[in-house]
Amino acid sequence: MKTILTGLRVNSELTLGNYLGALLPMVRLANQHSQDYNINIFVPDLHSIISDVDGDMQTNIIKSLKYYLASGLELGENVHIYRQSYVPAHSELCWILNCTATMGEASRMTQYKEKGEGKSSVNVGIFDYPVLMAADILLYSATYVPVGEDQFQHLELARNLAERFNHKHGEVFTLPAKTRDQAKFMGTDEGIRIRDLQNPEKKMSKSTPAENSKIMLSDTPEKARKKIMSATTDSFANIKYDMINQPGISNLLQIEALTNDLPLQDVISTWAGESKYGDLKQKVASSVATLLESFQSRYAEISDDMLYAELKKGEKYANEVANAKLYEAQKALHLR
Ligand code: TYM
Repeated sequence: MKTILTGLRVNSELTLGNYLGALLPMVRLANQHSQDYNINIFVPDLHSIISDVDGDMQTNIIKSLKYYLASGLELGENVHIYRQSYVPAHSELCWILNCTATMGEASRMTQYKEKGEGKSSVNVGIFDYPVLMAADILLYSATYVPVGEDQFQHLELARNLAERFNHKHGEVFTLPAKTRDQAKFMGTDEGIRIRDLQNPEKKMSKSTPAENSKIMLSDTPEKARKKIMSATTDSFANIKYDMINQPGISNLLQIEALTNDLPLQDVISTWAGESKYGDLKQKVASSVATLLESFQSRYAEISDDMLYAELKKGEKYANEVANAKLYEAQKALHLR
């Protein structure tokens, strides 16, 4: 059985970008494919410590799992949830892959450049984090890895490392699907990037200090509504999907499509030729407010005890699968 795998860092509250770009596509895929795929949802807690963690790590871990369930994830026999640091094979394989990756390719990662920008000193974890991500994926032979578009470069790295290792040491790793096929599997053409509401050239990010730039999943529906109403647009007075020239309006169309589970093309057609940006904002604001309301009420219902029981089961499974793959890699290197 093939595997679909993903994870979300838990450094702080999540944004609507995380939700629409990663959580929701994962949950929709999981519910659709949980009969014919393994669904691995893990908490990359070792990735979280590359930067400061807001609040308590343990609370954040449980919160992030609740996010999946509040988004509609149905647990079942093939759905496995686990914490990265409870499966030591991740760190072990990361080391092995460090000896396959080159300084050049790790330095080219956009996230590393962005996270290090303007800083006089950057920790090695930030540099190495895409290699750990490759280990997360390759240990489970995952074919599909639903993530936002900003992580596609890391998926390419995982493919390249797997290919290079296999070429040198024998067929050990399964390559994840190409990013184009990943996007198709998620039902989009090019991956999803929700934009900053104030600076729509940039992605919506939890680390942006400006409050009005991002919608947090903990925002009250009313607060979220106001943020959408004050989103930056343009002066063309023409509702059109054009990420280059009209990124603000295009972002709103994208949010409208994803919150209502509609094909983007349908939303674009509905609004084509309209000129009143206020009307579009009202509609998107109410879609987002409705989504947050139902998300937050489902979230409040989920029990911690049930999650800990699921983690225990999931970590037993994850250690079995990961250790078996690690052993294959160790044998290929004559470490075993
Ligand atoms: P992280 O925690 O930064 O982001 C979590 C997920 O949210 C997506 N995302 C967005 N999507 C669309 N628009 C946005 N504005 C936006 N902002 C964030 C990200 O693409 C991501 O899918 N390295 C990963 C975590 C990770 C992982 C893995 C994922 C570690 N190992 C293995 C998959 C498989 C990260 O830092 O994502």
